[in-house]
Amino acid sequence: MRVFRTIKEQQNYSLNEKCQNTRIALVPTMGFLHEGHLSLIDKAKEHADKVIASIFVNPTQFGEGEDYEDYPRDEKKDLKLLKEKNVDCVFIPELNEMYPEGFKTFCEVGKLSKEYCGRSRPTHFRGVVTVVLKLFNIVQPDVAVFGGKDYQQYIIIKTMAKDLNLPIEIIPSPIIREKDGLAVSSRNFYLKREERKEATIIYESLIMAREMVEKGKKEAGLLKKKMIDLIKAKKHTRIDYIEFVNPQTLEKVEKVERPTKVLIAVWIGKARLIDNMEIRS
Ligand code: PAJ
Repeated sequence: MRVFRTIKEQQNYSLNEKCQNTRIALVPTMGFLHEGHLSLIDKAKEHADKVIASIFVNPTQFGEGEDYEDYPRDEKKDLKLLKEKNVDCVFIPELNEMYPEGFKTFCEVGKLSKEYCGRSRPTHFRGVVTVVLKLFNIVQPDVAVFGGKDYQQYIIIKTMAKDLNLPIEIIPSPIIREKDGLAVSSRNFYLKREERKEATIIYESLIMAREMVEKGKKEAGLLKKKMIDLIKAKKHTRIDYIEFVNPQTLEKVEKVERPTKVLIAVWIGKARLIDNMEIRS
């Protein structure tokens, strides 16, 4: 497995591969890898000859007072896991390599980036989109795989790729969950024992909404209220948002008459956890 820390090395490698008509897949990550990330590698392998993973904790997507400094990191373990997965190449740049002095340019995907997660994290998606565009330019992938757990992120990246005519296919990959339903996340690491137990309520609330819809309840307002009641009953939870949206456009829907995405973000102790589920009547 090749490990590149400079942009030049990574770009040279990719250009060389492209000259040989190699189909390259990129899996961007912020490291502290878990089963969710590793499932993206498997997905990437289905779509390309060579798989490149990137590891970079991107400061521009963390707001002021957020967990950039505390974000868990374990480079040695990450490289071991990627090697075991037979990844061809890892791009793992230092901060200065990606954001040298004088860096000024950002890319933003309009209104989409100010809603839902963007409401409580107004600069988050601007940072995500900018770093992902930089990674695309460095790695030059034919396909890039993004997890369905960060559904708004996936839609935003897909929109950016389309709007800017990037010759890159953006592929979603299903949410990987713990046995009890909690979506696997690097931020689950922050949960204390009691909080970890309560965290399953996020998944349970999504299942409840799905079941209510299957039984004929369609009003998003009512479904949302039931979810809020369920989650609020837990001691350590604080709901950020719950929204019922069109899975393609992320526009809010009042009634679940077509396939609908339920997007949810909940604070549990120090961790802000997100999840989502598609439901249909
Ligand atoms: P990170 O949170 O490390 O996630 C990297 C990728 O793994 C994302 O595409 C995310 O959706 C996916 N992922 C995380 N948990 C998952 C799970 N339980 N099931 C399936 N996929 C999962 O997302 C980022 O990093 C950053 O914003 C990044 C895109 C790398 C830009 O900095």
